[in-house]
Order: sequence, then structure tokens, then C-alpha cells
Amino acid sequence: MSNSIIVRERIQNFNKIITVSGDKSISIRWVLFASIANGVSQAQNLLMSEDVIAAINAVKKLGIKVSCKKNICKIYGKNIDGFKYKKNIIINAKNSGTLGRLISGLLINTPYPIKIIGDNSLSKRDFKRIADPLSKFGSNFKLKNNKNLPLTLYGSPNLRSIKYIENKGSAQCKSAIIFAGMRANGTTLIKAKKSRSHTELLCKYLKLPIKIKNKKNYDLIKIKKVKKIKKLNYIIPSDISSGAFFIVLTTLSKKSKLIIRNVNINPARIGIITILKKMGANIQFKNVKYYKGEKKADIKIQSSSNLKSINCPVKLNTSAIDEFLLIFLVAAKANGVSYFKNLDELDQKESPRLKWGAKILNKIGIKTKVTKNSIKIFGNPNLQINKKIVIKDFLKDHRIFMTCVIAALSFEGRSKWYIHDKDSIKTSFPNFLKIIKDLKK
Ligand code: S3P
Repeated sequence: MSNSIIVRERIQNFNKIITVSGDKSISIRWVLFASIANGVSQAQNLLMSEDVIAAINAVKKLGIKVSCKKNICKIYGKNIDGFKYKKNIIINAKNSGTLGRLISGLLINTPYPIKIIGDNSLSKRDFKRIADPLSKFGSNFKLKNNKNLPLTLYGSPNLRSIKYIENKGSAQCKSAIIFAGMRANGTTLIKAKKSRSHTELLCKYLKLPIKIKNKKNYDLIKIKKVKKIKKLNYIIPSDISSGAFFIVLTTLSKKSKLIIRNVNINPARIGIITILKKMGANIQFKNVKYYKGEKKADIKIQSSSNLKSINCPVKLNTSAIDEFLLIFLVAAKANGVSYFKNLDELDQKESPRLKWGAKILNKIGIKTKVTKNSIKIFGNPNLQINKKIVIKDFLKDHRIFMTCVIAALSFEGRSKWYIHDKDSIKTSFPNFLKIIKDLKK
């Protein structure tokens, strides 16, 4: 069966209420925390995507029982020291940077070397960024080319706490250090540039010995050795990074309205909303609620015909990092030249996304000016695409596939898009195409 799709029709005039799948960052963290909790933890609406299934398989390899039926998953944790470490364990993080990096921190006290591997895309990504701080605790790492997977983790039973300045705004690095800090003697101190705070919020909810001081541009996090973790029941909210495809589809489509229900709106995840609103998009949060320290809301979106360009403030980069490809589509349709800068982290993702963003825009006839870490996009509100567009060889990056589907469905003209690697959606959003089909009904 073909693993590509052809899109030749636009979509407009919809007025729907949808629910997108569970949040990927929270789902992976739930699996990891539940695996070291004391007792049976239960999650509803866990994202059943390949990244999360890889996390489930990882904790199973460590001797933890997991059972998932219908919409409920149970993990039978045996407390913080309950992993059954064996010789020659290999953890396959597949496509997931979050899993590969967080679990390296979680397994830092392994008595036997553990090998962590990943797929072709993950094997190109930077793991030195976690090996460096985690080595300071007293463990050792062997990395391919000193930077990449496969890595071998040589743990230590006697870990010392560390002080670390995290200045990339990487929640994965910050979280790996928090997990390691939970196993180290003394108090680990992290000064972290602001990034998504799901790990800290879970620690707080679980009443672990963590202290957080939120400063303007960074957070100060102190974590002490953890002795016991209570079980963690959780109803996973929807993922704003999945909702983002439909936020942009509605913004760009004519005469359309959409409500996306029950979406996590952690302040460090909503950069796309702030940016699109500045560009003239019509987006509102309704029904805002708190759940276990996290914020969630229904998101209401309406078509916007008058989009303006943006000189995007750098301080919004981290909170929009997974959504830039989509934001670039909005910039393509905006009046004026948009400018996005200091985007070094964008090329650290599942594929070099800054380069891909420019490539996609150029294919549809939008002029760009790209440097190593910035892009200028010369928007065209009258954009019409009347040609065949082929998108392939993008390292199976799920967000590139889905972004191109949104572009194909929303930009006017008589274009015909051939988009390869449909299976990539299984990484984060397996029912993406089904929701699109339902919108057309
Ligand atoms: C994630 C953090 C982000 C993000 C990724 C998920 C997480 O990566 O891009 O998709 O769940 O912690 P970095 O923390 O490396 O920026």
C-alpha cells in the first residue's frame, strides 16, 4: 500500500467542535513517573502514538507491568528503586527525543550498562546536551561521534548532586537533570531558561522534595533525593501541538469556525497563540480550568482574512518551538515581511526544520531569506498555487507531513500535492487524517 497521500481539494466553510489526541509530553512523563511510583497508577486518554508506546515498552523492559485497555492505561509501579536492571538492556527510543533524553536521567543509577538506540532521525540528534550534565552526577556516557545515539549509559549507585545552568530552553535537558537529581545525594540546583514545565508540575503534584522559583526569564529549581512516590492517576488533556494544525487550518481557510476541546495550555506551550494573535488571527481561550497544576481550555478559532507580518520576539521562540513550520505558513499568507530569528533549536528537531520550512515555502512560490538561524518570509495575501508539489525525504518528520497537509488544504489555487511518509503521523497524532476527513463531512 502506498505510504503517500495526494491532496487536490481545499477545505473551507466548516463549523465544528473537535477533540485532538492526548498531550505527548505529558503522556511520556506520566509513563515514566508511574513506572517509579508506589502502586498502580491509572491514566485516561493517554496518547497511544509510537513515541508513547516506545516509553511503555521501555519501562516494560525494566520489569514494570503495563496494561492498556480501551481508553485506560495502568502502570504497576514498584516505587523509585523498583526497576529490575539486567545485563544487556537495550532501550529503543524510536523517534522520541523526549523519551531518549528523559530516560537517560531516570536510569542514571543502573548497575549494568544500558544502551539507548533510536531511529534514523533520532540518531542524528544531539545527546551530548544530556550526557554532559548527567555525567557530572557521577555516571558515564559513551556516545557515537561523542554526540549521537547509540549511547551507552554507565550508571553509578553513588550519585552526587549538581549545580547546572540550562541555557538552551530545553525542557528535555531540564527534565533529564530533574530525574537524575531525584536519585542523587544532596540538593541538585538547576537554573533553567524558561521551557515547558510539565515535569516540575508533576513533581509538585506528587509532593516530591522540589522547590521552584519562577523568575522573569528563567526558573530556579531545587530537587532532593526522592524516597517514595505516590501513585499518579491522570486524565491527559489534549495536545496543543496537535491542535495547532487545526488552529492554522481554520485561520487560513475561508468562512470557518472551530472549537478544540480540553487542550493543555501550559504557559510555556502557547507561543503559537501569542504569535498568531499578533498577526491578526482570531483565537480565544474559553472555559479555562486548572488540573493538577496544569492549565487547560477550549480553544475557539475563526478564519482570518487580514493577516499581518510579524517581527517575532525572540522570547516567544521556546514556547512555539514545535509550531514554527505552521507559523511560517501563516507568514506566507500575511501582508508584509515576517522575521523569525535565533532559531538555532529548530534545526535540532526530528529534521532540520528551519531548512525545511524555507524549502516548503519556496516550493509554493514564497520568497524567503534564510541564514543559519533566521528566516525572513515575504508574505503574499493573494497567494495562488497552481502546480504539482512533491514533498519527500524529510526524515519522516511527522510535523513536516502534517504541516504540508494543512498547506495543501488551505492555500488557494489548483495545486496537487503529493506528500510522502503518511505513516509519520503515528509518531504523535495517529488520528490526524481522520479528523480532517470528519471536518469535510
Ligand atoms: C519536549 C520538549 C521540546 C519539544 C519536544 C518535546 C518535551 O524539546 O521540542 O517536542 O516533551 O520535553 P526541547 O526540550 O529539546 O526543546
